[in-house]
Amino acid sequence: ATGAHVPALVIGTGYGGSVAALRLAQAGVDVHMIEMGMAWDTPGADGKIFCNTLSPDHRSYWLRTRTKAPLNYFLGYPIDKDISRYTGVLDAEEFSGITVYQGRGVGGGSLVNGGMAVTPKRENFAAILPSVNPDEMYDVYYPRANAGLGVGTVDPAWFDSTACYQYARVGRKHAQRSGFPFVFVPDVYDWDYMKQEAAGTVTKSALDGEILYGNNHGKKSLQKTYIAQAKATGKVTVSALHKVTSVAPTAGGGYTVVIEQIDTSGATTATKTVTADKVFFAAGSVGTSKLLVKLKATGVLPDLNDEIGKGWGDNGNVMCGRANHLWDPTGKLQSTIPCGGIDNWAAGGAFAEVAPLPTGIETYASFYLSITNNPHRAQFSWNAATGTVDLNWQTSWKQPAIDMAKTIFDKINAKEGTIYRTDLFGVYKIWGDHLTYHPLGGAVLNKATDNYGRLAGYPGLYVIDGSLIPGNTTVNPFVTITALAERNIEKIIATDL
Ligand code: FDA
Repeated sequence: ATGAHVPALVIGTGYGGSVAALRLAQAGVDVHMIEMGMAWDTPGADGKIFCNTLSPDHRSYWLRTRTKAPLNYFLGYPIDKDISRYTGVLDAEEFSGITVYQGRGVGGGSLVNGGMAVTPKRENFAAILPSVNPDEMYDVYYPRANAGLGVGTVDPAWFDSTACYQYARVGRKHAQRSGFPFVFVPDVYDWDYMKQEAAGTVTKSALDGEILYGNNHGKKSLQKTYIAQAKATGKVTVSALHKVTSVAPTAGGGYTVVIEQIDTSGATTATKTVTADKVFFAAGSVGTSKLLVKLKATGVLPDLNDEIGKGWGDNGNVMCGRANHLWDPTGKLQSTIPCGGIDNWAAGGAFAEVAPLPTGIETYASFYLSITNNPHRAQFSWNAATGTVDLNWQTSWKQPAIDMAKTIFDKINAKEGTIYRTDLFGVYKIWGDHLTYHPLGGAVLNKATDNYGRLAGYPGLYVIDGSLIPGNTTVNPFVTITALAERNIEKIIATDL
């Protein structure tokens, strides 16, 4: 309620925010989490909390009247459709040169993502977070994050026999025939549950096309792990459909936080002001960057340093499909949860997830999300004329990512005598180069903050999400975001409380 005082306020309920809330609560601190998206704890009229990827309804997108599917064409035809405007779970946020997909709701990106839980190779860590001691990360914080998230790996014997991973076995075969290492990728999906889905003994989720707009079963989102544990302490409250718009220093110490309550049409229904001793920015790379850039430029937090908004990258994301021969089908039943990747990072700067195309029909397509070592970095800046935060990424900056992905797929196509699909992202368009799932940076560790996420210039303000990471993690990012949050909050609890 307006006028309330909280010891610790956390903006956002994704990976960074959930780690902060749990560990602060365990240290005896009362925590209030503020989340602009919905709670996602109540079934709709169809008895389900989340809608299906193949039949998106109002629950799918954040405040849109038409879907904006990442794979927006099939067989050359556009697949997007009209929906009613609602505070849906997936935000396709458009900047001038890139669409940034993000989860909205209690659990952040964990509600919509593929659950791929990858710890980067240790030899790559110095390039990811150069100011962090790798020994402490690999000995303590990566293991702690993997345990907290409930990470597991597919049973290799089941993988070899189940129909729902035929697409991944085709991906493995093609990778290996071209001399690329195929690696199993861990995931937070409950693998025993998936086996039961395949056996027909439980309600299907991963085997029923659920993923992009939420999984109703099987996936261990943050609501089931960190946030459940945090709530169980009795010291954490969560306010959904509440959006933080300002954080300003209060005379005499602490911060005044302005919060807008919204309804499911996105309209503001109330504006509340609370005070907090400590504020943790965990609104995600884009959300945190937008807030900090605005607050610095408008004179609310003028002493933030000039690194705010800088160092943003797309984790080198680029997508493509390959057309297989008719004798090499990928299967009409495809688990939405990817479990393998092609590692050509050292030689070609690309790590490609073998991704599903869960259409329910045989597509003869192999589909891939590549994470590449694209060197481009963009910057957020305040646009006073429009009152918005812009990002100066350019579509052409994806070219290095395409070139790196081609080190894998040109070779596979040559070996297999196959070609790229041209019908998945438009008419005669090969590369999905208009988007990212993995925004990183904007308040980079040891630049915009100190080496533990303390914002320069403002004691008691912290950044604890993907905006700390300077643009690339060489693999999918959420394990690294979680592990870094575990490291930083331990230090903050030990020294700042
Ligand atoms: P995150 O984005 O999770 O959370 C931020 C939260 O803050 C959101 O809930 C948001 O609504 C809220 N918020 C923002 N502004 C606010 C404000 N002003 N007030 C209140 N609340 C606010 N990664 C991976 O490792 N493996 C994978 O398989 C995938 N797959 C994948 C698929 C798709 C479709 C997407 C969109 C993303 C992925 N990712 C992924 C990426 C992963 O989900 C992402 O890196 C993390 O969720 C980022 O965690 P953060 O804690 O930084 O923020």
